[in-house]
Amino acid sequence: MEVIITKNYEEMSRVSAELIAREIKRKHDLVLGLATGDTPVGTYKGLVRLHKEEGLDFSKLTVFNLDEYVGLAPLHENSYNRFMWENLFSHVNITPENVYVPQGNTDDPEEFCRWYEAQIRDAGGIDLQILGIGGDGHIAFNEPGSSFASRTRIKALDKQTIEDNSRFFKKIEDVPRFAITMGIGTILEARSIILIANGKKKANVCVQFIEGPVTSQVTASALQLHTHVTIVLDDEASSQLKRKEYYNWVRDNKHIVAKKIGR
Ligand code: GLP
Repeated sequence: MEVIITKNYEEMSRVSAELIAREIKRKHDLVLGLATGDTPVGTYKGLVRLHKEEGLDFSKLTVFNLDEYVGLAPLHENSYNRFMWENLFSHVNITPENVYVPQGNTDDPEEFCRWYEAQIRDAGGIDLQILGIGGDGHIAFNEPGSSFASRTRIKALDKQTIEDNSRFFKKIEDVPRFAITMGIGTILEARSIILIANGKKKANVCVQFIEGPVTSQVTASALQLHTHVTIVLDDEASSQLKRKEYYNWVRDNKHIVAKKIGR
């Protein structure tokens, strides 16, 4: 896992947007997995800027979102579908038919989850998956204890997640108790992954998943099993890491490292 430590939220957002843009330029029909939450808002702003100012082209992309609350219709004010249109899709030249967000109000969630997995497969698999991290160390909505082999399914939300996410709802009772989420197995099949995190409140889960043991109690630690993960943190989220000096050395000497491994 490559760990990039940035000064603040703005730099984290700029660096992550540039990494994503590089992949879009490399492969115009990239299959991109996307995340919601406060963390990626700045990254999406950065992508919108690159589209408007530099013509970054989204028209051939296929996108798959990680998750959605069960029970919320796609246009509900708190749906992740709406979040994505408001923060990214409406501002770039994405092709609407190429946008996949789990449908929270589906009549048959099990069948829907199977269909979603099949769509990812038919698209050729996810090339690049963007992730945030929850306060309990989850990725997507894979709460502690999720199987590392899990696929897209319904997951009951943890108390801490319900509390954390209640800030977006009028009252805590309005937060759905269940979500449809890609599984850890689904996420680990992405060819490459970028996880972003910022703020003091993420420092503890960041040190756990980056430098702690691989455990289903911190589901982001499953990323240690993947060969191509980049983690972009701001200074606060990186504050408890013990090997910061090493990560910074690798970042500053990447050209030497690249030569040694023949890239
Ligand atoms: C939710 C989402 C996650 C996201 C997490 C953190 O639980 N399912 O994908 O990473 O929130 O959100 P935030 O970026 O607002 O801290």
